[in-house]
Amino acid sequence: MRSIIDILDLSPAEIEELIATAMDIIENPAKYAEVCRGKKLATLFFEPSTRTRMSFEAAMYELGGNVISMAGAATSSASKGESVADTAKVISCYADIIAMRHPKEGAALVAANNASVPVINAGDGGHCHPTQTLADLLTIYREKGRFTDLTIGFCGDLKFGRTVHSLINAMSRYPGVKFVLISPEELKVPSYVKKDVLQKKGIPYVQTTDLEGAMPDLDILYMTRVQKERFFNEEDYLRLKDSYILTPDKLKNAKLDMNILHPLPRVNEISVKVDEDPRACYFKQVLNGKYMRMALMRKLLKEAGTI
Ligand code: NCD
Repeated sequence: MRSIIDILDLSPAEIEELIATAMDIIENPAKYAEVCRGKKLATLFFEPSTRTRMSFEAAMYELGGNVISMAGAATSSASKGESVADTAKVISCYADIIAMRHPKEGAALVAANNASVPVINAGDGGHCHPTQTLADLLTIYREKGRFTDLTIGFCGDLKFGRTVHSLINAMSRYPGVKFVLISPEELKVPSYVKKDVLQKKGIPYVQTTDLEGAMPDLDILYMTRVQKERFFNEEDYLRLKDSYILTPDKLKNAKLDMNILHPLPRVNEISVKVDEDPRACYFKQVLNGKYMRMALMRKLLKEAGTI
């Protein structure tokens, strides 16, 4: 049974195929409106979420399917001590596909190993978030028309930001890509990402604390929220939370066609004044995420022989 835990579970050719499907969905939504008729998605979110859960749910409804959902971790059997493995076996009896978010790294893999239906990782702790990456990739594709020869700046919490880790992994498969990693010392990209991805593949990258200094080189600026829920103490969070705040003034030296991405939710890291800038793409990213989740669920259910 094919599940998607990491963005690298999808080959570049499969990502291209998903993008082609998403573009076709955008142009011909009626063609897809009955594709999942009678099928059920279960959303299992053991961590707060608005966008990702509702995006999966909207995606399944737009494919003509139905959704069953857990009200929240506190009211689920997890609070009685049920294991992720058992929950996955149980939910497989009710649903044709599962989207799961969990605070523990590796939880989605455990679920996939125990479920008898496809599992999609909707975020496992500070590890991966492959469907956000699909949203990011469709956004880059629609804005830039390519994945090659791009300088991508990541700014903010690069340590705990799972969307950052997944997008670095995805983009490191394309030639001519360079990364500029902008963060406070304490929130640098984990060394496993540097060693296993960037250094291993010989991808050019620089680490800096200076957002404005890095700005002129960037084709894409990926802003992130400081991940409060992953901090061990409140004091560190309060000290670091406003390390970077993107304002129109700071964009003075940015390329005119630079794209500003953010997985959302935004706290303080992008001033609302930036929303009017044509380079701001974060609300487009939300919509792109729904189309890519539609394309992904259709693909997995087809491969499973369910549709
Ligand atoms: C992200 C996440 O959950 O990792 N949000 C999302 O899914 N769009 C980013 C975040 O929470 O900061």
